[in-house]
Amino acid sequence: MKSAEIREAFLRFFEEQGHTRVASSSLIPGNDPTLLFTNAGMNQFKDCFLGQEKRAYTRATSSQKCVRAGGKNSDLENVGYTARHHTFFEMLGNFSFGDYFKRDAITYAWTFLTGVLKLPKEKLWVTVYASDDEAYDIWTQQIGVPVERMIRIGDNKGAPYASDNFWTMGDTGPCGPCTEIFYDHGDHIWGGPPGSPEEDGDRYIEIWNNVFMQFNRTADGVLHPLPAPSVDTGMGLERISAVMQHVHSNYEIDLFKNLLSASAAAIGCSNDDQSSLKVVSDHIRSCGFLIADGVLPSNEGRGYVLRRIIRRACRHGNKLGATGSFFYKIVAALVAEMGKPSRNSSSNRAISSACSRLKKSSSPKPWSTA
Ligand code: ALA
Repeated sequence: MKSAEIREAFLRFFEEQGHTRVASSSLIPGNDPTLLFTNAGMNQFKDCFLGQEKRAYTRATSSQKCVRAGGKNSDLENVGYTARHHTFFEMLGNFSFGDYFKRDAITYAWTFLTGVLKLPKEKLWVTVYASDDEAYDIWTQQIGVPVERMIRIGDNKGAPYASDNFWTMGDTGPCGPCTEIFYDHGDHIWGGPPGSPEEDGDRYIEIWNNVFMQFNRTADGVLHPLPAPSVDTGMGLERISAVMQHVHSNYEIDLFKNLLSASAAAIGCSNDDQSSLKVVSDHIRSCGFLIADGVLPSNEGRGYVLRRIIRRACRHGNKLGATGSFFYKIVAALVAEMGKPSRNSSSNRAISSACSRLKKSSSPKPWSTA
């Protein structure tokens, strides 16, 4: 299945379950000074979770463009060196604002993965927050996941509620325990199940996080119950595409094929699985979309992070032998690849015009000095 088909299948499945399809919001979070960039599908619904905004629907689904670089959830230094980290990615999500809760969320996720995408059940592992017996029982007793593939994860990050299975949007805001679904890519790849000493390997990859939104965390660290229990989920389109396209690395999926060859052509090097080439082809996505959403390289805040990403891309291009400005040359391939089905022509134009701006800012000097 192509990535575009997976995206559409996801959105259609949730529409059939009564969800309203909502367009991706900008990478610059609207009215939210607590966030550097949009980093999850739930950002645009923050006030719905908090009970401060009422919409015409209580169920939503979206494919949200996200950037995780700088600030919380920064993946920048991992990018290019693992099979699964990106600065820019698309997050498929379904959301309940005081509508359904744990049982339905878990059932939807399982039905989509095993019924629609037809993933083999025995390849799927599940984690729950250590004290979440309710979610554990739904998985084991109603869905039928064997206890051998169920893992409870506690506060493994050094503080109460600091856990891989307690998701928080930032230092403040909606949060709650979560259940994550992992895909086992097979014993030919190094890595262990979540919670094991080898969990950072690439064998068991988290594909879908279902958060049971129950609290609003305030700056003093106190968790206040939300007006109504809610659901926020996120599945990385690139990761599930890798599973569906029977490849292990996200960089082998359809969305990256042309970007990698365009990056190699722009640099003038071979296209041979080099980490630096992955860095460049990842970074052109975040830079193109950030500029299209109005961020410009600068010395502070969002613009500074953009500048760091451009610098990193140029540095890796130089490592591969680039001799002059090359980064902007990849924008045409980005537009061809990602300007297509789900985006409108104004965002295509914006990405295109990003090209000329990148040209100005991507020459090796002064970027190569940092
Ligand atoms: N908001 C949750 C996440 O980003 C689903 O993992």
